[in-house]
Amino acid sequence: MKQAWRVVVLLVAVCMLGGGFAQALAAEGGGGGHRATREAKTAILLVAFGTSYATARGPLLAFEEKVRAKFPGVEVRWAWSSHQIRQMEGADDVDSPAEAFARLMEDRFTHVAVQSLQTIPGQEFHMLVEAARRFEGMPKGLKRITVGLPLLGAPEDLEAAAAALLAGLPKARTAKEAVVFMGHGTHHAGNAMYPALQYYLWRQDPLAFLGTVEGSPSLDDIVVDLARHKPAKVWLLPFMAVAGDHANNDMAGDEEDSWKSVLAAKGYAVETVLAGTLENAGLVDLWLAHLDEALEALRQ
Ligand code: CO
Repeated sequence: MKQAWRVVVLLVAVCMLGGGFAQALAAEGGGGGHRATREAKTAILLVAFGTSYATARGPLLAFEEKVRAKFPGVEVRWAWSSHQIRQMEGADDVDSPAEAFARLMEDRFTHVAVQSLQTIPGQEFHMLVEAARRFEGMPKGLKRITVGLPLLGAPEDLEAAAAALLAGLPKARTAKEAVVFMGHGTHHAGNAMYPALQYYLWRQDPLAFLGTVEGSPSLDDIVVDLARHKPAKVWLLPFMAVAGDHANNDMAGDEEDSWKSVLAAKGYAVETVLAGTLENAGLVDLWLAHLDEALEALRQ
């Protein structure tokens, strides 16, 4: 019952955030009577944006290992959602989500639980749900596809994520030093998860700030907030699955418009930590819990 209630809450949350495709979580594959006899074959499809940074691949593979350990015997495959990154020179030959669904159909799978390593239910998440909906219930194809929610998928995720972010800070950080997390941000309504997470961070630590590269709150907002507290030191960490291009350049780069340079120019001592959220055990547990819910929903 508790599980069912949580799924309802999640659906409402996603719809409020500009969804409308979330019904794919619960939609039945359009199965005809004959296919009832087909043997069920379940797979997990992990979806990442993809990364051009070789060093960022380790945390993705470590996540895959945790998934394999938690769900032994279930086929686990990857897709990368970024066309640009899939086309990059030297990129691994990774499927797009659509290619992965087609291949799963070809390999006679019937049920697929998709879990993306997205942070918020933004445009990419909804495109993934849309792709899943289109591949569900094709003749002789996948009977049922469920999509696990992103890291911040429901209100209760926010409080848990705030606690995990703070628990994962370097031991050297003192309570008088500020922490600034750099999220991606988007024009999509799902961006609202960032200021929402900021609320829960502040309830637990008034010197913990969350900004975004492309959305709101912005670095300018953070600068104003920091000026009220005047901490001697600021710790900078990415709030993205892996420490890739944004973390290495926009956050920690030496160019004068990087977050590190802007904050240093304001007089703060800045310390950067190049570890994405996949290196935070508590956040990984949140993603795994969402995958667990997607697998559970396959059985309903
Ligand atoms: Co970007």
